[in-house]
Amino acid sequence: MKCKITMGFLCRGDDLAIDKAMISDIKNSVNIVDIIGEVVELTKSGRHYLGLCPFHQEKTPSFNVIEDKQFYHCFGCGKSGDVFKFLEEYHQISFLESVKILGERAGFTISSQSLGEQTQKKHPHHLIFELNKDAAKFYHAVLMTTTVGQKAKEYLYDRGLTDELIAYFNLGLAPDENNYLFQSISSKYEEKELTSSGLFNISESNQLYDAFRNRIMFPLTDDSGNYIGFSGRIWTNDEFSQNQAKYKNTRTTPFFNKSYELFHLDKAKAVIKKTNEVYVMEGFMDVIAAYRSGIKNAVASMGTALTVDHVRHLKKFAKKVILTYDGDSAGQEAITKALDLLSDLTVEIVKMPQQLDPDEFVQKYSEQELVRLLEQSRISSIEFLMQFYMPTNSDNLQAEISYVDQMAQLIAKEKSLTAQNTYIYKLAEKLPDFDYLQVEQVVNNYRLSKRSEKSNTSLRVSSVNQEIQKVGHTTGLLKAENQLFHRLLHHEHLLNSFRNRDDFRFETRELQFLYSILKDKGELTTLDLAQVTDSQRQAYYQVLEENLPDEIAEHEIEDIEERRNFYLKEQDLKKQSQYIRESSNQGDVESALSALEALIEQKRHME
Ligand code: GTP
Ligand code: MN
Repeated sequence: MKCKITMGFLCRGDDLAIDKAMISDIKNSVNIVDIIGEVVELTKSGRHYLGLCPFHQEKTPSFNVIEDKQFYHCFGCGKSGDVFKFLEEYHQISFLESVKILGERAGFTISSQSLGEQTQKKHPHHLIFELNKDAAKFYHAVLMTTTVGQKAKEYLYDRGLTDELIAYFNLGLAPDENNYLFQSISSKYEEKELTSSGLFNISESNQLYDAFRNRIMFPLTDDSGNYIGFSGRIWTNDEFSQNQAKYKNTRTTPFFNKSYELFHLDKAKAVIKKTNEVYVMEGFMDVIAAYRSGIKNAVASMGTALTVDHVRHLKKFAKKVILTYDGDSAGQEAITKALDLLSDLTVEIVKMPQQLDPDEFVQKYSEQELVRLLEQSRISSIEFLMQFYMPTNSDNLQAEISYVDQMAQLIAKEKSLTAQNTYIYKLAEKLPDFDYLQVEQVVNNYRLSKRSEKSNTSLRVSSVNQEIQKVGHTTGLLKAENQLFHRLLHHEHLLNSFRNRDDFRFETRELQFLYSILKDKGELTTLDLAQVTDSQRQAYYQVLEENLPDEIAEHEIEDIEERRNFYLKEQDLKKQSQYIRESSNQGDVESALSALEALIEQKRHME
């Protein structure tokens, strides 16, 4: 059977016209939400997207697109499938046609024979890709077979490359001549292609001459492996070179979009898909350093900062991005910018030590050390930002306050409560003027405002919630407990009467712990305080800060207790309404309704 698909995809079975790997490559390179979103208006609803089903008539949406699993399902008519199935059903076309449409859209070069068609149709940029590929061959040959190439190779060997790496990355050398490339390949192409390739400039006498001279050449490919351009690095110490930009790229052309393409993505994408992770680095040499150490899923932007287009591109292949930028201040600054763009993806950060980039690190230490660093020294974006924005002057309280505020917002967005608590703890540890409880309170403010932003499916449930939120139970409860503890600490007769109340417990964990010592010993000594945890000690000092007159006022304790009980009940209600919200979100309407009934009943009692 005559069947050829470019880019190394071979035809296997007689009945199968396109390689399975290519089909899954095509599928992986598009997002079903984008494809369906072009013809169905989708809105995000929890983890899914929801819209009106295109396959049957309906007024309320029951057509779900499940992004993480890349399929659709309609609860109304029962139709479901993957992205190919959708196109088949929607356009009433065959499976192969749907593969072809998506393949071409994603930039795959599918030869027509592979689809059983008679006429050969090539990618519109086919000739430019061929031209660039010929140029890459030429540059590689110059590097590998000439005397000056030998010198350039030695430069590369010095930087830790081997012949295998040079071959894998297909590195080359642009000779220090005016038009050797032009002479070598111009006869094969029309002038139109030569001029639009970006590889040649036009002189005043209207002659084409080589755009790259005396540079180590890094071929750039799109993610189907088509040759789209080059980046050339100076490598000699002569004065002329030293006055040039270190790297020079092919100019942006219709087939080379610097803001979208990523170096090495074509070869890295298989590993990226398998591991679901991609390392994003600053430089070509960094990607090569990672590769030689065995990390094959690293890519680099082409000398520009990360853009929204890069991020869109990365999303097609990975769920997690590991930012591995240079350890210098420019690199760290670039991480904060990249984090803004990457908010939809999971991001981890490798903090390169001693201002090194990965390439310098491997040269200074070893490949094993680099692997260890990349795999084991990652931090979360919050940890990174905590370090990055940490005020340098610890005397500037105002700066610390706004820093805590900024971090609290980020912490409140964190999904896991355990993680939130860890970050609160870390943040409090960094700042001598703040303790755990204070930071937690700031985080709480954002937790609450975040919740009230969320619209709930059940209007009644959400309005109950909002009432509770207005009360602000955490601050109120803590305040009441701090006052009570203050009185217990300084008024023995009160402590004695509380000693008789076996079931009395402080809701605030730290206070309860301190209370147990206080009950036993009648006091809290310096030694006791030296032995408790930081947050317990901080809770103690917060109590001392309560500004209360020496004498207990009439009904003061009853007032405090009443307030405290109110907040405890509110807290309980809040838990219940959260349960209601969860059950109603999970579609367990029955549990939600009966819990709601109990809740309303309880509220009535409180009023
Ligand atoms: P080496 O010195 O070869 O190790 O490069 P590097 O990657 O350490 O350099 P640097 O961190 O300065 O730059 C990172 C990336 O930015 C490079 O890989 C290039 O893609 C790009 N870059 C650096 N300098 C220039 C330049 O002068 N012009 C352009 N267009 N890109 C540059
Ligand atoms: Mn470097």
